[in-house]
Amino acid sequence: MAQVIDGKAISAQIKEELKEKVAKLKAEGKEISLAVIQVGNDPASSVYVNNKKKACEFIGIRSLAYELEESISEKELVELIEQLNEKEDVHGILVQLPLPAHIDEDKIIKTISPLKDVDGFHPQSVGALCIGQKGFVSCTPAGIIQLLKRSGIEIAGKECVVIGRSNIVGKPMGILMLRENATVTIAHSKTKNLKEVCKRADILIAAVGKPKMITGEYVKEGAVVIDVGIHRNENNKLCGDVDYEDVYPHCSAITPVPGGVGPMTIAMLMNNCVESVQ
Ligand code: GUN
Repeated sequence: MAQVIDGKAISAQIKEELKEKVAKLKAEGKEISLAVIQVGNDPASSVYVNNKKKACEFIGIRSLAYELEESISEKELVELIEQLNEKEDVHGILVQLPLPAHIDEDKIIKTISPLKDVDGFHPQSVGALCIGQKGFVSCTPAGIIQLLKRSGIEIAGKECVVIGRSNIVGKPMGILMLRENATVTIAHSKTKNLKEVCKRADILIAAVGKPKMITGEYVKEGAVVIDVGIHRNENNKLCGDVDYEDVYPHCSAITPVPGGVGPMTIAMLMNNCVESVQ
């Protein structure tokens, strides 16, 4: 029987650990503040932002909410971020993505000080990750490393295939697995013989963005399968990039959707916030 990796429980455990750390920091007179900026009121973004605020509250981090009009100019948003960069009592800055089309996302990401870049999206944070220097790490890939480690899954020396090459998940995921001494392949939409490539994996990480694309045919017997996708199917039920029922009989461990990778992203964001004062 495959091990079902319980992201909800692992995320809860990390949040408890962080809550204790934050209480200790408070006793030393250090209070952590996270500025959360949302532009417009996209319903999905509102759900994510609310969950982030709730996690802050639970852990004991002060969240400062900036709810901005959809029509705000890029210049005004840049000015706000520059002000927050300067404020000593703001430790982390998070701009919820996506932004409206008239705002250049790359420019906004670059405006956030790398010292407060708790999302780990700034080019300096990504560069530091690549060469093994200190810096914030993108939350979803960092969460996947925690899922593997806390589930007792060995990474060093393993063949790892990451499907997807986004800046937020695929690329940092590959680098993190390399840092853990896995042998890494990053596959993508132009990869030839994708099934054969995936079948080499001891650890297969799917971040393709296509519901249930990864069936049992992509999975080596006994592999560990991590599903980063989250989609709603025709019956409004959540599913991932992995066809869970089809893959389950072939693997040794698997993350469910929901309750696998998803809850880890916020836990790691909170971890980055705690690191921002240390
Ligand atoms: N939109 C979807 N995921 C994320 C995330 O992790 N961080 C930010 N800032 N925006 C997002």
